[in-house]
Amino acid sequence: MAKMWAGRTDGQVDKIADDFNSSIHFDCRMFRQDIKGSSAHAAMLAKQGIIAEEEADTLINGLEGILSDLESGKLEFDMTAEDVHMFIEQELTARLGEVGKKLHTARSRNDQVALDIRMYLRDEIEEILEKINSLVLVITDKAQEYKKTIMPGYTHLQRAQPITFGHHLMAYAMMLLRDIDRLNDCKKRMNQSPIGACALAGTTYNTDRRFEAEKLGFDGICENSLDAVSDRDFCLELMSTFSILMMHLSRFSEEIILWSSCEFKFVELSDAFTTGSSIMPQKKNPDMAELVRGKTGRVYGDLFALLTTLKGLPLAYNKDMQEDKESVFDAVDTVKACLDVFKGMLEGLKANEANMKKAAGAGFINATDLADYLVKKGLPFRSAYKISGSIVADCIVKNIVLEDVALADYKKYSDLFENDVYKEIDLTTCVEKRISEGGTSFQSVEKQIAFIRKRIK
Ligand code: ARG
Repeated sequence: MAKMWAGRTDGQVDKIADDFNSSIHFDCRMFRQDIKGSSAHAAMLAKQGIIAEEEADTLINGLEGILSDLESGKLEFDMTAEDVHMFIEQELTARLGEVGKKLHTARSRNDQVALDIRMYLRDEIEEILEKINSLVLVITDKAQEYKKTIMPGYTHLQRAQPITFGHHLMAYAMMLLRDIDRLNDCKKRMNQSPIGACALAGTTYNTDRRFEAEKLGFDGICENSLDAVSDRDFCLELMSTFSILMMHLSRFSEEIILWSSCEFKFVELSDAFTTGSSIMPQKKNPDMAELVRGKTGRVYGDLFALLTTLKGLPLAYNKDMQEDKESVFDAVDTVKACLDVFKGMLEGLKANEANMKKAAGAGFINATDLADYLVKKGLPFRSAYKISGSIVADCIVKNIVLEDVALADYKKYSDLFENDVYKEIDLTTCVEKRISEGGTSFQSVEKQIAFIRKRIK
């Protein structure tokens, strides 16, 4: 069949070329946005006297009919159409005859596709924001539950200082809160309308771009028509934001994977979010966390694919830009799936408080507190640090922990040591006393939870 744009050529495209060129199998997901955009366009054309009011009404009714038929499944996408825009226009003309051919006045597929992607992503961002919000709430609930659960805090993956599991979890809530902020920021810049830029140069018709933009819920219009049709920064920005979000989920996944290992045994995932092995009967694998970690690479890949596609593209529209959609759609789908599975996985996660406590008790993670004890009694920190280090070294030789050292032995290092040292190096004291803002004390974690709950409605 000859293409709608037949004229300059006979519109007979080779089958291989046609399949290669076609984007309907992936851009069909933007049909709602395409129809909404077209209805606003028809209304604008009528308001400006470019088409008659009745013609606009006919077009809008026709478009609504197509929308409901697509929603109900009565109408199926014609996969031989070049893209979703051509398909809908073709269908409209088939239904309405001559008047259908008026819709594409004073626009081009170049501004139309730019409009559709912005509208589509805008909707997706809302959904993703909700998913992150509910994940953050699950995290804060867990943090509340485990706000007094002591575990070792690590640096270099070496036991460092005692913290609570609640405090550790809240670190992820803070990361996700920044992701929410970044998404909102990204949404703001995305919400400028490109429609009316036409092919690249604007139009000779007396159009009203701002009317159309407002009708579609945009905050304003893209001010330069060349930029309007060739800009995909909003896709890149979104995928950068997704990449950072996925990096956060990946770090969290990595910890869950480590913590579920026999070596750590800090947490246990619910059966519903783990898998078994086909050969090793004892296995309970954290596949969901591993997949989230793995899919992070995929989202980075989506970002890099589009960055590379856009690099060096001359203005304005080039067909290369059709490649934007598969990357950004894949990133959207992946992020949504990861957020859903992560939430479910986390809801079922149980901490093994005894093992956490045991690990916290074994690694001299109160050595800093021992040094601080001497500092509070008047010793300069460096000297106190040295004494505390020597005591740890001696303990390692004797295979004991700081709590086992007799007061008489402590006194051999410094006569500042008194009986109150044992209370001071008790892990609960160590945690409770870290009351500096943002620290691991119970009250500080409570404050962090309140802060997040206030930000997340
Ligand atoms: N399917 C195309 C895309 O996704 C729509 C724009 C086509 N414009 C053009 N002049 N061929 O980019």
